Amino acid sequence: MKQLTEVQLQDNWNKLIQVIKDTFEDGSERRENLLRMYHDLENRMIMAPASGKEEYHYCHVGGYVEHVLHVVDTALKMSDTYEAAGGHKNWTDEELIFSALHHDLGKVGDLNDEYYVPQDNDWRRKTLGEVYTSNTNIPNMRVPDRALFLLQHFGVKCNVNETLAIKLADGLYDEANAYYMKVFDSKRSLKNHLPYIIHWADHMATTVEYDEWKRGDEDEKEEMESRIENIKSVTVEKQEQKHEDPVLENKHKDLFEELFGDKS
Ligand SMILES: [Fe+2]
Repeated sequence: MKQLTEVQLQDNWNKLIQVIKDTFEDGSERRENLLRMYHDLENRMIMAPASGKEEYHYCHVGGYVEHVLHVVDTALKMSDTYEAAGGHKNWTDEELIFSALHHDLGKVGDLNDEYYVPQDNDWRRKTLGEVYTSNTNIPNMRVPDRALFLLQHFGVKCNVNETLAIKLADGLYDEANAYYMKVFDSKRSLKNHLPYIIHWADHMATTVEYDEWKRGDEDEKEEMESRIENIKSVTVEKQEQKHEDPVLENKHKDLFEELFGDKS
């Protein structure tokens, strides 16, 4: 499993804060409230994983911030791709970045406690790969709902595009989203496609992160196999040298005969 160093954790955190400073207007209420929220949640957010199971995405300390940065970057590219494909972009970059930044905010926990806590059941850790489990001491809420709760608590206003983009980030993986996304009446269908951009970006980033985890395992396996091969080849080489050296072989033969030969 991926492990970030203290320097990497701090570096990712600094990048996240810089994105906020670069995106939201200096001195604006939104920027100030966001920075207050990030300051209050810093200790927990910097350590939070992005998921609880090893085979999911970025299930490691610092995975949350890493994943959020990944989604922001991918969402910007996805938005450009949408336009390049002929789509009409009716959202601003600020709305896009704001939604990407907060689509998983609920994973940080509530005001008092974290959402992901270490799985202390040994069997579940080993058999199911559950590194973390959800904290049942905090109210049971869907991740996007908790994200919107936290934002309103810190006085961070979201417009309707951002609210829907955060709420629908899981796309149709969340059945409740069918109410918004599986609509066969053009009058009721989404009037803005930012939720799709955030969902596609999140889905792509998550898939890449899964590959990275899987690749990491395979890389480790390949490295181990190559080490074993290397050890084997060195052993075989030594054995071959042993039999190929006639002087040494004769010495061994002489010694053998001296010790066990027929002395009569
Ligand atoms: Fe996500």
